[in-house]
Amino acid sequence: MANQTILVTGGAGFIGSNFILYWMNNHPEDKIINLDALTYAGNTKNLASVSDLPNYIFVEGNITDRELVDRLMASCDIVVHFAAESHVDRSILNPDTFIQTNIIGTHVLLESALHNDIKHFHHISTDEVFGSLKLGSDTQFSEHTPYDPRSPYSASKASSDHLVRAYGETYGLNYTITNCSNNYGEYQFPEKLIPLAISHILADKPVPVYGDGLQVRDWLYVQDHCTAIEKVLQSGKSQETYVVGGLTEDIPNIEVVKTILRIMKKPEDMLIHVTDRAGHDVRYSVNWSKIESDLGWKPSVSFEEGMQKTVAWYLANEAWWKPLVSANAAYFKKNYQGRE
Ligand code: NAD
Ligand code: TYD
Repeated sequence: MANQTILVTGGAGFIGSNFILYWMNNHPEDKIINLDALTYAGNTKNLASVSDLPNYIFVEGNITDRELVDRLMASCDIVVHFAAESHVDRSILNPDTFIQTNIIGTHVLLESALHNDIKHFHHISTDEVFGSLKLGSDTQFSEHTPYDPRSPYSASKASSDHLVRAYGETYGLNYTITNCSNNYGEYQFPEKLIPLAISHILADKPVPVYGDGLQVRDWLYVQDHCTAIEKVLQSGKSQETYVVGGLTEDIPNIEVVKTILRIMKKPEDMLIHVTDRAGHDVRYSVNWSKIESDLGWKPSVSFEEGMQKTVAWYLANEAWWKPLVSANAAYFKKNYQGRE
């Protein structure tokens, strides 16, 4: 796969920027065009180390802009589609942008991909499309799990997955989809549980845990996610889906927060329980044996190691996340006010 031009959408966000840094480091022969609308979640600072390279181009723009997307795709071989509204709590407060970006935006990209003969369209999706597993059970999500999205976020992502598959079946688009679990690591916006907890602890504020905090997520270190996408781009089978997960086994949210408190040497009473999220999915767990047996990928970073690295990064990079907390004060107020 030498000398390809890759259109990355949403490459200034958390996973997209980790992916671009990873890809440019490991595939310097390729060219990356990063199309990102720079919403509250997009940050060009993440890409400062590559921004002057001749094989990196940043374009500020919206994936719903067909003319712009057509112009960019005309010179591309591959599309890796990360751009999305990605936070469940924001989807509960304001679903509109989730419909626009996640559904309409994906549709625009698919139309343009067909029109421009894109060789490979890779769609990044989430395990949240499968709904909620029973707490305490040992069932897991796999490529065969029926869709059952329960939040405006997961419903919009499910819609986008269906559109991608429909473009494969109907028009022969060469696509792949990955449905991955909760990512954590460097450059994650401090509204998601792990960076929110770290930033609260550093500000000496209690860490809000929704409801009883017994909900379970499957945690995937973002670098492991990047290697999974690399495998799928290199040897994934056309029109296949791969679920991607981490090396965690049913860690309840309270244990995630307690791990962070232990690493940061802070007392457990900094954890406080607050009013639960509406429609809160109680358990996600991912069986990633298909991508392991078909493509030889598996996660390599344990939860302890990933958390140590993540905490260290946030400690060393206050200048990155502190301004984001202040700039988004209105959101934090709206989401957390009156919950305690
Ligand atoms: P993020 O919110 O950190 O970043 C999203 C990026 O997309 C931002 O840079 C934003 O500016 C850009 N964007 C948003 N709307 C856009 C639009 N209309 N046009 C162009 N750019 C736009 O998200 P993330 O956590 O990096 O997630 C990336 C992808 O991975 C998403 O598709 C998400 O659904 C999926 N995913 C994320 C997780 C996770 O734990 N973060 C887990 C599973 C799947
Ligand atoms: P989040 O990081 O928002 O990811 P998602 O909802 O997409 O899984 O939340 C992870 C888990 O942490 C989820 O069960 C909700 C919970 N949570 C809290 O308990 N408190 C918080 O302040 C946040 C943001 C999340």
